[in-house]
Amino acid sequence: MYTQGLDQQSSEDKKKSARDSGSSEDAAALAAFQKRVEAEEKIEAKDWMPDAYRRTLVRQISQHAHSEIIGMQPEGNWLTRAPSLKRKAILLAKVQDEAGHGLYLYSAAETLGVSREQMVADLLSGKAKYSSIFNYPTLTWADIGAIGWLVDGAAIMNQVPLCRCSYGPYARAMVRVCKEESFHQRQGFEIMLELSRGSEQQKAMAQDALDRWWWPSLMMFGPSDTDSRHSAQSMAWKIKRFSNDELRQKFVDVTVPQAQFLGLRVPDDKLRWNDATEHYEFGEIDWQEFHDVLAGNGPCNRERMAKRRRAHDEGAWVREAAEAYALKQAERQAA
Ligand SMILES: [Fe+2]
Ligand SMILES: [Fe+2]
Repeated sequence: MYTQGLDQQSSEDKKKSARDSGSSEDAAALAAFQKRVEAEEKIEAKDWMPDAYRRTLVRQISQHAHSEIIGMQPEGNWLTRAPSLKRKAILLAKVQDEAGHGLYLYSAAETLGVSREQMVADLLSGKAKYSSIFNYPTLTWADIGAIGWLVDGAAIMNQVPLCRCSYGPYARAMVRVCKEESFHQRQGFEIMLELSRGSEQQKAMAQDALDRWWWPSLMMFGPSDTDSRHSAQSMAWKIKRFSNDELRQKFVDVTVPQAQFLGLRVPDDKLRWNDATEHYEFGEIDWQEFHDVLAGNGPCNRERMAKRRRAHDEGAWVREAAEAYALKQAERQAA
């Protein structure tokens, strides 16, 4: 849900102008909006924007926030079992960063008029989606390496262009988020490097993690361009700068040499360098798996949601205490 309250023009004014000029007023507003977008002007919270632009951003930013919050679970699972105090401290900092990204993004979405309560309610009821990648289990310590390297790596590929998104609050939030994601990616790669230079067992563990996380990471870029519902409009609005397939290709081109450096094998028989295109060719993604996980039937969907609901219930006292404190502060200020 979002409100129209942030529109500069009140709904009464709009009705009046629509009566006066038919639909030409809307067409003029849309054209002016598109002109601003094309001139690379940032759209701010109080500016007029088409309803569909607002809805698209609310959906995208809230999904992004939910992914950060649910994304804490697979790694949080290893906090108590990290192999050293140093690794534990790094992982703790990383998981905390993800919580921060979630809160930061909820705030960005709130500037569009949607309430935090509504967004959280939509996540908990299952109405809102989060990134499917977090419905896969973290079976060994190497999975923590693979997530940082591949999942945060894919997130960076997706999010760096969002720093230039036409919506100002989202673009600015992404600048800080991307800086932290880059640390996450490096810590993951470093875990993989250490494992791949370790014992035969450690190397096998790293390979197994790559085998399990490679394809789900490629799926993170979303459906192929030919099947992507929202892409074209988002590109026209300069919310997106590159298509899903372009970003996926960039990710493969950057990541394959990293796997080679680690001495690990990317689990794709069709993977080969193409001299003419100067890109890697790669095999077909199992879209059935993607849609199954998206539909709620991945290995951990139920577990993730159950844990999130429990955490929300158990945190009720924190929300109540924060509200009581805010009320007390407000009363004191008024006095
Ligand atoms: Fe994040
Ligand atoms: Fe991250």
